[in-house]
Amino acid sequence: MLQAFPSASVRIVGLLQLTLLAGLLGSVPAARAASIAKTSNVAEGRSAFHANCAPCHGLSARGGARGPDLTAGNWAHGGSDTQISHTITHGVAGTEMPANAFDDAEVRAIIAYLRSLSPPANPLVGGDPIRGQQMFVGSAGCVNCHMVDGHGGHLGPDLSRVGTARAVPYLIDSIREPDKELTGGAPDPNNHYGLPLPYDTVTVTTTAGERLVGVARNEDTFSIQLLAVDQSLHCLLKSETREVIHERRSLMPAYPVSALGTPQLLDLVAYLVSLGRDRAVAVGQSR
Ligand code: HEC
Ligand code: HEC
Repeated sequence: MLQAFPSASVRIVGLLQLTLLAGLLGSVPAARAASIAKTSNVAEGRSAFHANCAPCHGLSARGGARGPDLTAGNWAHGGSDTQISHTITHGVAGTEMPANAFDDAEVRAIIAYLRSLSPPANPLVGGDPIRGQQMFVGSAGCVNCHMVDGHGGHLGPDLSRVGTARAVPYLIDSIREPDKELTGGAPDPNNHYGLPLPYDTVTVTTTAGERLVGVARNEDTFSIQLLAVDQSLHCLLKSETREVIHERRSLMPAYPVSALGTPQLLDLVAYLVSLGRDRAVAVGQSR
């Protein structure tokens, strides 16, 4: 589902800052000006990124619910400054990646910011993706909650492209310690950057005394759509509820070493890493 971002209004702030910066540069000696330009470029890029890109790519560009990790160094659409600049200004047709009407300085600042982020340490996985897939749909029970290519449960996020969206350390944490960093879930009607609500655990008690635990598909001041752990969907008015409690923990069970040995974990991660890859490579080659 596409959501409108108030990009235009937020971007004005970035432009104003650039203008101020230009004024500032006019009044400092050249050598200092160059180093200020470099650091402020990154800072400028960071704020433009937060305002325009973070809703999809995550606050630290490490990937979000709707856009891939931009720090991993494997660019599906090319990693040169020119190619990244093209992706940012033209968008990626047929995907949620929008075209952006930035000027050159803004695009350069965003690229400078992205280049300033160190790539996540990607330990070699070395697992077997086929065995991983068998566990995913079999003994580990992941498919009960996660959809991959149209098959699976709905309680957790769709993982069809998780391999391009997330780096290995994040994937490992997601399985070993799901509570550590919650995925972005339902859209937050009150967040003007379009950042989603955390994918947390919600307990609703109805006025009739029924207690439902699940995840929120959608929520506003007056209503909530709750997908309960048995995957039944409940659309409730807040007036029909006694309380709605959000707990900052994942509905996903943790898989400690006792439940899932390291070789099994690596097989699963190898499978997750493969998800979305082929398509990304194919798209990259066609350009
Ligand atoms: C509405 C969600 C959304 C927004 C907002 C968004 N992106 Fe994207 N972006 C995506 C998606 C989805 C892709 C993956 C496209 C594909 O399928 O290849 C993507 C891809 C990219 C890529 C290509 C990555 C690669 O592997 O080559 C870059 C670079 C990028 N985005 C930068 C940005 C920047 C910078 C902004 C802010 C100015 C931004 N995006 C805003 C969703 C978004
Ligand atoms: C009871 C349902 C349930 C089961 C079973 C389950 N998950 Fe999850 N999973 C979730 C929910 C809910 C989230 C979102 C909250 C969070 O970030 O943990 C999630 C998040 C994730 C994420 C993070 C996705 C992202 O882009 O941020 C990954 C990866 C993941 N699960 C993998 C797995 C794997 C692999 C298994 C099997 C070993 C599994 N899950 C089993 C419910 C489940």
